[in-house]
Amino acid sequence: MSFGWIDAEQFSFNTLLLMDRWIFRTIAKNQHPEFKKNLAIALAGNPTVFWYVVSKCPEQREYYHVLVGEAPTNHSREELRDSEVYVLDALDWAVVYVYPNIMENLPYIKDWDKDRLLSITDFNDKTVLDIGSGTGRLAFAAATVARTVFASEPVDRLREYMREKQKRLEVDNIYVIDGTIEMLPFPNESFDIVVSGHVLGDDYEAEWREMSRVTRPGGYVIVCPGEDDRKKPEGPSEELISLGFEYSHYVSKTGGDVCRYWRQKR
Ligand SMILES: C[S@@+](CC[C@H](N)C(=O)[O-])C[C@H]1O[C@@H](n2cnc3c(N)ncnc32)[C@H](O)[C@@H]1O
Repeated sequence: MSFGWIDAEQFSFNTLLLMDRWIFRTIAKNQHPEFKKNLAIALAGNPTVFWYVVSKCPEQREYYHVLVGEAPTNHSREELRDSEVYVLDALDWAVVYVYPNIMENLPYIKDWDKDRLLSITDFNDKTVLDIGSGTGRLAFAAATVARTVFASEPVDRLREYMREKQKRLEVDNIYVIDGTIEMLPFPNESFDIVVSGHVLGDDYEAEWREMSRVTRPGGYVIVCPGEDDRKKPEGPSEELISLGFEYSHYVSKTGGDVCRYWRQKR
């Protein structure tokens, strides 16, 4: 499935050479038959990229070797390019991670207003963690009032982008670090507020446990998505509500439904 975020025709398949290990782990989970067929053809036709993928992500070496071993053969140059474009389009979420300037200009980030975060609770003088910061939408918003913000992000290029943005905007209370939500590199009860946007979803319960672990009693865990042009008749996230989150809904500038969620740690 593609978000329609890029014109895949404009990208070389070598874009995968910019990607991080955890991205190849995630790609290996995509069992959609059409995606797997096109990925197999594209990797078989690009031996350097294939070498990079299996070297960077040895835990999935076997998976990628089997996949490429089963790739249909005898395709033309045009068919190879069609497969590359199919894969790049399906991986648009990962392509934008390695082109942060494109990511920063996606409507969910560009059209978003920082008061959507700052109105949820009092950030004044607080110590905040933003998990999966991306280009820093939530981290930079929190940093306008918080004492200290840790921006944790597993993509190398996005970490560098945030560090450059800090210099450009002269923001000195953000610390950019590596890390994933599965295992946050902090002791228990380190933060007053833990925020995140568009990161949870693989395993809500485990993600909540880890976010809660690093939050001080009385502190807040917040899930704050960006703007959205999609109407959501299904309503707020059942998973977050069943975990005890409260929420508030607003109609986005881009016409869709957005819910922000928070839960105070007792
Ligand atoms: C859709 S982007 C959202 C970026 C930012 N939170 C925002 O809302 O503007 C998702 C971000 O989460 C990061 N990410 C993906 N999986 C993650 C995980 N398991 N743990 C932490 N971060 C993750 C990605 O690298 C990416 O920067």
